Amino acid sequence: MAISSKTALQMFDNLSTAVMLFDKNLSLTCINSAGESLLSVSNRRIIGQTPEEILPYPPALAEMITRTLNTGHPYTERSLTLTLQNAHTITVDCKVTPILKGERVKEIIVEMVDADSLHRLMREENLMLLHDAARESLRGMAHEIKNPLGGIRGAAQLLERELAESDSGLVEYTRIIIQEADRLRSFIDRMLTSDQKQKIEKVNVHEILEYVCNLVEAEYKQAFRIIRDYDPSLPILHVDRGQVIQAVLNIMRNAVQATGDNGNIWIRSRILRQVTLHKRIYRHAVRVDIIDDGPGIQPEIENGIFYPMVTSRPEGTGLGLSIAQSLINAHGGIIEYERTDERTIFSVYLPTEQDHA
Ligand SMILES: Nc1ncnc2c1ncn2[C@@H]1O[C@H](COP(=O)(O)OP(=O)(O)O)[C@@H](O)[C@H]1O
Ligand SMILES: [Mg+2]
Repeated sequence: MAISSKTALQMFDNLSTAVMLFDKNLSLTCINSAGESLLSVSNRRIIGQTPEEILPYPPALAEMITRTLNTGHPYTERSLTLTLQNAHTITVDCKVTPILKGERVKEIIVEMVDADSLHRLMREENLMLLHDAARESLRGMAHEIKNPLGGIRGAAQLLERELAESDSGLVEYTRIIIQEADRLRSFIDRMLTSDQKQKIEKVNVHEILEYVCNLVEAEYKQAFRIIRDYDPSLPILHVDRGQVIQAVLNIMRNAVQATGDNGNIWIRSRILRQVTLHKRIYRHAVRVDIIDDGPGIQPEIENGIFYPMVTSRPEGTGLGLSIAQSLINAHGGIIEYERTDERTIFSVYLPTEQDHA
């Protein structure tokens, strides 16, 4: 079968595997979109560079490529950790294949798959199942509590009216019943928020982020700094504005609470290519990182933070992250947590395509 060079190029650029091609002088001649995205570089900048220049440390990959050049044999390596030009590290499964012309190596193909994201995906899937199961049973419970609650409140109101007439001072008690019933009701409503139907509209991510910043700045008196690092080229999202605001707000509140006085919070937005979310590959997704320099998640609860009612704060409900995760899941996205370089990072991934699960 013959394919046109245009089709071949399109195929090349749409592969989810990162592919680089080096000539016999070990200078990079081309790289596909997945490659640029994995290495966080742009095509224009690294064409012509050598493997040592592109991935200097450790030299494992450069050595594999040199070995292929010298022997004409292909090599593979699993879980290779490499440092990128931006100092971030990635872990990849890697394959180096020679293109031969007679006995001589003419060109070298390097294929890389992000092993981090493979592992993350597996972890994420298990987590998601557990999270769904926990929320499902809580949801059932919430409905069970909500129904009689209406009756209790109604009866207390009737009683209050009777007691008010007799002027016995007992009204105080009925008021407490009503107040507490209302509190429980709003707690349960919050627990059930992610059940609400979505109202999808066109939304600018940065508008949402600014809205949330204003809210938290008004809400907390403590001094904290918000440092913005926005990618201005982000596309418009099709999401339920209120729900995404709620999710981001819950994460931001936690960040403010964690940093205490004079804390720093960074908000970073990025566009990602070829992203797998809930087993679906999207051409593009948006990632919003909310980063704080607080002490991080306490180790005792680290594995459970996305579960409902897991909290370390005396006045906490433990619903914030669980609700945020459910709302973002309902948009086909995910929220991840990471702790690196003394920073707590919550990343919200949202696909940019309109068709949600
Ligand atoms: N940015 C953060 N830094 C440190 N700990 C955090 C952060 N975000 C969440 N947590 C931890 O996760 C727990 C659960 O958060 P959440 O679901 O919002 O419930 P709540 O805020 O009511 O405790 C918090 O009690 C806190 O211990
Ligand atoms: Mg919270």
